[in-house]
Amino acid sequence: MSEAAWAILAENDRGGYTVPTAHLYPFQWNWDSAFVAIGFATYDIDRAYRELERLAEGQWDDGMIPHIIFHAPSDTYFPGPEVWGTRHRIPTSGITQPPVFGMALRQVHEAASAAGRPDAVERTRKLFQNALRSHRWWLRARDPEGTGLVSILHPWESGSDNSPAWDEALKRVPTSTKTTIRRKDTGHVDAAMRPRDEDYQRFIHLVDVYRECEWDPARQWEAAPFKIADVQMTGILARSTADLLILAQSLSSPEERGELERMHQVLTEGLARRWRQDLSRFVSRDLVSHRDVEAPTQACFIPLVALTLDDQQRRAIRSEIKRWLDGMVVGVPSTAPFSPAFEPKRYWRGPVWAVVNWLISDGLRMNGSEDLAREIEQGTVQAIERAGFCEYFDPTTGEGLGGGTFSWTAAAYLVLSQRS
Ligand code: GLC
Repeated sequence: MSEAAWAILAENDRGGYTVPTAHLYPFQWNWDSAFVAIGFATYDIDRAYRELERLAEGQWDDGMIPHIIFHAPSDTYFPGPEVWGTRHRIPTSGITQPPVFGMALRQVHEAASAAGRPDAVERTRKLFQNALRSHRWWLRARDPEGTGLVSILHPWESGSDNSPAWDEALKRVPTSTKTTIRRKDTGHVDAAMRPRDEDYQRFIHLVDVYRECEWDPARQWEAAPFKIADVQMTGILARSTADLLILAQSLSSPEERGELERMHQVLTEGLARRWRQDLSRFVSRDLVSHRDVEAPTQACFIPLVALTLDDQQRRAIRSEIKRWLDGMVVGVPSTAPFSPAFEPKRYWRGPVWAVVNWLISDGLRMNGSEDLAREIEQGTVQAIERAGFCEYFDPTTGEGLGGGTFSWTAAAYLVLSQRS
């Protein structure tokens, strides 16, 4: 099965970067590529570095690494570069995605060093600077008040586009758009699995608002009709910061190490405050309504990748995750099965994503739940072996759904099958 995973990554290679899958997602996506780089590090270190280097080509001068890099044109995806109207050297989108980059860089560097590659230090050093600049952007642009939590201004930034976590906040976003919507996704996969038209209108309304702010972070922060201090994003950023700190021991200056340590402290403290004992979960905060986001989604477990929990929290999270797995053919569902919002086949409203399981099991292992981590990893590997390298899986049946031949599912397979 590893050969099949390699074949998918080869098929989706467009010259040093990997598209998530042909047709449906024909460009380079930010967090997909970071996971893919970790997958490549298991067998092709040069290619792992290339993936991150090509992603870094899209980094803006202010430090943001966009969610899509349009290296080459394609007419099978909407919204393309003309809708975003950004001004980077290479056409890109104007929003970002979870910064798995730092986590990936550490993995790639460690694999390169273990293999004794002479170019490891030089290549890692350059990418380390890209990562550091992007983390600075995160804190400056997305936590200007210094709360220790970074915010998303668009559901697409979260990586969980259509999650019920955004329902309440998205309802306040108008459906009017200045851009003509020409959806392409529903021509590639069944519309019943994709976001609804009304959601799409709101997604594009937000793009219109931010384009009118000329993509200036301060203006966007002021104008944003959608602003959520997100525990998934902050968890990943905090973890990437910890991974950069490890690289910084040998690759960076004392000043930069100090800066990363301060970032790490602010982020982990901010994150720790989002624990809700009554829910046994971490919760995001809606900065427009000033309310907690209580929808039970996978995001609630992602802080485990960055925090050391106390015993009571560990017990609570374990039994909460077990409750979500109960009766499922494959877990962890992206929305709790007991939630009224649960839809096992619709985008981020129930289905299982291999990369999410990868993060959750990492976090569980770090917090002393090796057995549950293994159970989730093995379930993921088996689901892929049964159904193929699909975009995601129906937790109630194990059926593979969405786009086929998915790069990050192949990468997850390469990494998780080595562990189980
Ligand atoms: C969808 C997913 C997002 C992913 C992208 C490409 O937009 O929600 O997480 O990065 O597809 O795979």
